[in-house]
Amino acid sequence: MYQHDIQLASYTTFGIIAKAKLFVEIYNLDELLSIWKSSEYNSIYNKLILGGGSNMLFTKDYDGLVLRNRIVGISFEDESDQSVIVKAGAGENWHELVLKCVENNLGGIENLSLIPGTVGASPVQNIGAYGVELKDSFVSLEAFDLETGQIVHFNNEECEFGYRDSIFKNKARGRYFISSVNFRLKKPGFHKLNMSYGAIGHTLQEMEVSLPTIKDISNAIVSIRSSKLPDPKVIGNAGSFFKNPEVEESFCQLLLNEYPLMPTYSTHNEGFRKIAAGWLIEQCGWKGKSLGNAAVHKNQALVLTNPGNASGQEVKNLAEEIQKSVFEKFGVNLETEVNII
Ligand code: FAD
Ligand code: EPU
Repeated sequence: MYQHDIQLASYTTFGIIAKAKLFVEIYNLDELLSIWKSSEYNSIYNKLILGGGSNMLFTKDYDGLVLRNRIVGISFEDESDQSVIVKAGAGENWHELVLKCVENNLGGIENLSLIPGTVGASPVQNIGAYGVELKDSFVSLEAFDLETGQIVHFNNEECEFGYRDSIFKNKARGRYFISSVNFRLKKPGFHKLNMSYGAIGHTLQEMEVSLPTIKDISNAIVSIRSSKLPDPKVIGNAGSFFKNPEVEESFCQLLLNEYPLMPTYSTHNEGFRKIAAGWLIEQCGWKGKSLGNAAVHKNQALVLTNPGNASGQEVKNLAEEIQKSVFEKFGVNLETEVNII
């Protein structure tokens, strides 16, 4: 079951060369328990849980054990007149789960169509797009506690969700191997479609849809995303490399006085406003530029890419130069969204 010196390039969407000292794929919880008890597991210090590798940058070989999640299975449970609980194995592909729910006319995650990666990683950064976040439909998850070997459960509140954030990125980082996730999805008539993001209405018009269904929204999102974001199968990337920074409203206003065209958004954080990091990076002249073999995407400055032979360190160097420029020009700190290993 254990594999040694495994090349990780094809297990991440950046496609960057890096090896793992030890590597194992987990298909169910019994297997995880026996791995957890094994001497190999207990004699190696560094451990890393890997899903689809779409939010990961390896900057060097990984001197530890990579646990790759392959737990599958989708079931519809606890059906009422209005909603259904969908239980999904953490190793399921996220977009395929969305499509399955959309085909069954269940609403809540259609705006999250075409986000790469696995179900199990979706709560880790509370994935979000086009006016919706995972936490809006999330009910609970099951996980294996790598410290105690016990199965544990987290409800929505216990996950401490925030913008691209949860307990699993903070005090519980690396401790829990998420094995399944439960969502509550709504039946038509009980689900309010979210079209708050301007481009959705515009795309539906282009598609000549006047009374959109859950499936129409999903199709519109797929179309918008395909036109903006690079397909990792064609060009290595991990989506937005940085989070959109949240700054104090008074500071944001000072920036807006100088840069009235700067796109800003409201946030759940009272007294703060979010700024579009892509705009800040573009203003610093980075859009479409390269540093070594790493590049900034030509259509979306928030996406750093590996056009071919970039090393993880080159991508990290580019990210640091961008952070420096944005801080010097605007006084704003960009925090990375991608997990740098
Ligand atoms: P990985 O990259 O494998 O892991 C990410 C983190 O989660 C790591 O810390 C890992 O240790 C941890 N983890 C993974 N699985 C588990 C598990 N089972 N238990 C515990 N911890 C786990 N994200 C958005 O939020 N919105 C977007 O719109 C979006 N668009 C993207 C577009 C592109 C083209 C790409 C490449 C990425 C995009 N992303 C987006 C980022 C990424 O798809 C998400 O973060 C996704 O949830 C990562 O899933 P993954 O399985 O690939 O996780
Ligand atoms: N913009 C620029 N130049 C650029 C890129 C963007 O000026 O090069 C401007 C756009 O014109 C727009 C604003 O910035 O006014 C926002 O751009 P966009 O709508 O493309 O969204 P984003 O803020 O760059 C966020 C998420 C994406 C998510 C989309 C849609 C973050 C860090 N990123 O991107 O998530 O898909 O909104 O909701 O919050 C991801 O997390 O990996 C990701 C792709």
